[in-house]
Order: sequence, then structure tokens, then C-alpha cells
Amino acid sequence: MNKQILVLQGPNLNLLGTREPNIYGIKRLEEIHREMVEYAAEFGLVLHFLQSNHEGSIIDAIQQAVGTYQAIIINAAAFTHYSVAIRDAISAVNIPTIEVHISNIYSREDFRNHSVIAPVVTGQITGFGSASYLLALQAANFIINQRDDN
Ligand code: DQA
Repeated sequence: MNKQILVLQGPNLNLLGTREPNIYGIKRLEEIHREMVEYAAEFGLVLHFLQSNHEGSIIDAIQQAVGTYQAIIINAAAFTHYSVAIRDAISAVNIPTIEVHISNIYSREDFRNHSVIAPVVTGQITGFGSASYLLALQAANFIINQRDDN
């Protein structure tokens, strides 16, 4: 039973730890990824990570995920709010996808209240700090097991 998850991190998330720590916390991306790998091992999930500041790289990764990954976890960061191209890529590949945000996008500036990818993802986790990623792993595991039961 293959349980490979692609974890995509969008623009500026490479700066976690120093970037607006009052909003995004003090953990660096590497630390979050380490915690994810540890947590994923409990579920037998294998994780692959890509952080990119470039929309096209994220789209390429989504397209190339077909046939290899059983789920995608994506924090599209600012692209969340306007990238129709990332939305279309998610919609095109038909891989269960979990949208993640560290902060609660609905309690911030108006322009963050709208996610263009939300209608095409399986579900969204927003506002739990870095634990949002661990909750997303639980969700991914749930989705994959549900699929295997059918
Ligand atoms: C974010 C929220 C976005 O609005 C913002 O542009 C980010 C991070 C989050 O994880 O809370 O870069 O996706």
C-alpha cells in the first residue's frame, strides 16, 4: 500500500522563523518538516517536500505528482488568494489535496479571506499555527485509508 504525500510550500514560507513571528510563529520550515516526518512515520506516510517562491514550479510539481503521490498537502501562501493557475492544476490532476494555512486566513485582512483554491481541494485547515501541518497529515491519512477501504 503506497502512501506517498507531496508537501508543497509556497512563497516566503522559506522565511518562517524570522518572518512575522507574531503571526507565523518562531519555527523554521526545516523544523516544521522534521516534525511532519516524525508524525507521518506513525501513519506509515512517506513525505516529499518542495518549497518554491515561483508559481510555475508549484504548478509543475502538481502536474508531476500524478502516478506517484496519493495526496498533496499545500500551503500556497499568497498564491492562495489569486492563483487561478494553481487552482486549475489541482483541479486537473484529481489527487486528494489538503489546503493548509498557519494563520487563520479568515481573521486577517480582507484580501486573505478568499481562497481561489478552496473550491477544488478536498478540505482546508487554517489557523492552528504549525500544528496545521500535522492536522493535514491526519487528514491525508484518513483520506488514503478511506480510499483503500473502498
Ligand atoms: C499563509 C496565509 C497567507 O495569506 C500568506 O500569504 C502566507 C501564509 C498561512 O500559512 O497562514 O504566506 O498561507
